[in-house]
Amino acid sequence: MKLFIGYASTEGQTQKIVRHIADRLVDHGHSVELMPLGDVGPVDLSRFDAAILGASVHVGHYQKVLSEFADTYADRLNAMPTVFLSVSLAAAGHDAEDWRALDTIIIDVSDATGWKPGKVLQVAGAYTPSQYDVFRQFVMRRIIATKDPEADLDWDKEYTDWDALDADIDAWLSQTST
Ligand SMILES: Cc1cc2nc3c(=O)[nH]c(=O)nc-3n(C[C@H](O)[C@H](O)[C@H](O)COP(=O)(O)O)c2cc1C
Repeated sequence: MKLFIGYASTEGQTQKIVRHIADRLVDHGHSVELMPLGDVGPVDLSRFDAAILGASVHVGHYQKVLSEFADTYADRLNAMPTVFLSVSLAAAGHDAEDWRALDTIIIDVSDATGWKPGKVLQVAGAYTPSQYDVFRQFVMRRIIATKDPEADLDWDKEYTDWDALDADIDAWLSQTST
């Protein structure tokens, strides 16, 4: 299959995640075009068999480029198999309210753009103080201290479950290819 992968990543974890997926797809014999959504420009999605879009949550929103892309290409995306990778720290935990908030953000994006993702994968991201400015460090330290008391607040910590991600992508691909 030929897959388009577009992503938005503020601190780099979504980029790491989509690169991992792209490598895996290529290893399995698929062809992949991987691009940051901010740099895509006009793209002919009819050249692809399926699309994966990824973006991360910051203060309850995805990056604007995700909405802009989904809005522009909603009709085409709705006509092909798609996955939305929603990367967040809420997905690392089991807080029901946090998970409801994730559902709401996706519904809002879908309502606003018209894109109905064929599959949504909630992917746990990372705590990356090495990438934060002083204000973000202050805010995120407080959140992580509450959500993950075992974390060393001075060091980056990855919550992404790579095995679960691989299994989810493989399952989607096997459904999509049949
Ligand atoms: C300023 C800031 C705000 C964030 N807001 C949220 C949020 O509202 N909900 C959430 O689940 N995660 C939130 N996160 C966590 C990010 O989604 C997480 O760190 C993710 O891995 C970032 O992906 P990226 O590196 O691709 O941008 C926030 C992170 C930062 C730095």
